[in-house]
Order: sequence, then structure tokens, then C-alpha cells
Amino acid sequence: MEANLPKRKETRKSLRIKVISMGNAEVGKSCIIKRYCEKRFVPKYLATIGIDYGVTKVQIRDREIKVNIFDMAGHPFFYEVRNEFYKDTQGVVLVYDVGQKESFDALDGWMAEMKQELGPHGNMENVVFVVCANKIDCTKHRCVDESEGRLWAESRGFLYFETSAQTGEGINEMFQTFYSAIVDLCDNGGKRPTSSMSVGFTKEQADTIRRIRNSKDSWDMLGVKPGATRDEVNKAYRKLAVLLHPDKCVAPGSEDAFKAVVNARTALLKNIK
Ligand code: GTP
Ligand code: MG
Repeated sequence: MEANLPKRKETRKSLRIKVISMGNAEVGKSCIIKRYCEKRFVPKYLATIGIDYGVTKVQIRDREIKVNIFDMAGHPFFYEVRNEFYKDTQGVVLVYDVGQKESFDALDGWMAEMKQELGPHGNMENVVFVVCANKIDCTKHRCVDESEGRLWAESRGFLYFETSAQTGEGINEMFQTFYSAIVDLCDNGGKRPTSSMSVGFTKEQADTIRRIRNSKDSWDMLGVKPGATRDEVNKAYRKLAVLLHPDKCVAPGSEDAFKAVVNARTALLKNIK
């Protein structure tokens, strides 16, 4: 009898979860999974056809987790194949290539596809998302920086990791944190624990940083019309400075945004009498 006890305890604690990968074709979804599960990297591109399915066991704290991984094809051609695999998912690995801006801009589209497939009763609030900014080894081609990616992820309550399937950087930490968050979710009755929901900055701050990044000139950055008066520039500046001051704002990219706003104001005031 005694000898059976530990085994029974282990069974009670074991957990079965479903995770999926999402993101444009060629961003490295399959390579990230292969790096973690098989500890190897394949440089040649072998497009996933529809879906690849695999099962792996991982140990998270005192739990043994059986993970069913559905690795999706990113190409639009396979939409009809992958669309039925979204349901009953506890975790999503959402990948983009840091050297390919379109793959970053496509993240919203992937969220929309999942939402549409889950239908009106689907609940994405209680799914753990981890965003992988992949191929960080290709430093020369990088065009989406860390703060931009982190802001997109964290303003939605998602995890964010910088990864390279080629070198292995960030991969283990990413999966460990991701699986831990899923275990926390399961232990919390399938609901995201409230602690993981608070991001420490507001939507207004996140949206403002994004707007500043995309502004076309100093007028646009301060949100005033070209030809605005000194008073109007100063007023707009003060509002942004209060919102983004690094002492008050912890959103990724706030420091750069704050500096950009200071420089924009200085540049404009130089030319206004
Ligand atoms: P689909 O299955 O078509 O959706 O693509 P995928 O997202 O699964 O891409 P895959 O993992 O097949 O990788 C695409 C290409 O990028 C391959 O040539 C990989 O070798 C390469 N690749 C993947 N990850 C990395 C990385 O971190 N660094 C570099 N340099 N190349 C990578
Ligand atoms: Mg693939």
C-alpha cells in the first residue's frame, strides 16, 4: 500500500494541456518548437503543411504536464486546415520575425482569426499568450525593436520573449514561463489569475507611445496643427510629459517616447516667435 502512495500523488497532479502556434509563414514557429523539444535547429525552410501535431511531457514545479502541441502553418493557403484547431486551447505561442515588419503588423490579424474561429462564446481572456520576437540572432536585419514588441504584448496582458531558434536564446525561459502561467491558469479554475492581468500602465499610455513612434513630424508628434502657437505647443507638451514621464510611466518605450517629445518641443519652439 505504502509503495503506491507517491505514484497516486503524481497522477493526481498531472495535467494535460493544449497549445498552438500562430504567426506568419517562415517566422520560425516550427523551429522554436523543434529547438525546445529536440534541441536542434534546421536552417532549411520546410513549410508546415496544414498542421503538425506532437506530444511532449514537461515538469513544471511539482507537476508533470502532458503538452499537446498543434503547430500551425502560417501561410494563408492553409486557413481551411488550421481553423478548426483553435478551440479548447490553453496557450498560444504567437511568433513574429524581428527582421520582418509585416509579420509584426500581422499579429492583430492572427488574434482576429482566432477570435472569429472561437465564435461569440469563445473566451480569449482565459488563454495564456506568449509573444516570441524571433530571429534575434539576425541583428543586421532587425527592424522591430524590443520596446515596440514588448509594448504590443504587455499592453494586452501577454508574455513577451526575445528568442532565437537558431542559437537557442530565450527558448527555454520562454517555454518554462509559458507553461508555468498555464499551470497557474488551470489551478485558478481556468481563469487568468488577477495578478497576471495588471500590466502597470494604462491603455492611454500604450496608445500614446505607439502614436508618437508613428508620427511623421514634430507637429504630429505633439498632436498640434502645423503653425500652432507657442502656448499650444507648450500645452500639448505638458500633457504628454505628465503622461509619459519615466518616473510615472513604466510602459515599454516610454523613455524614448518622452525624449522624442522633449526634442520635438525644442525643435518647434526654436522656429516659433
Ligand atoms: P510555416 O510553417 O510556413 O508557417 O513557417 P514557420 O513559422 O514554422 O517557420 P520555420 O520554423 O519553418 O522557419 C522558417 C525559416 O526561418 C527556416 O529557414 C528556419 O531555418 C529559419 N529560422 C527559424 N528560426 C530562426 C531563428 O531564430 N534565426 C534564424 N536566423 N533563422 C531562423
Ligand atoms: Mg512551420
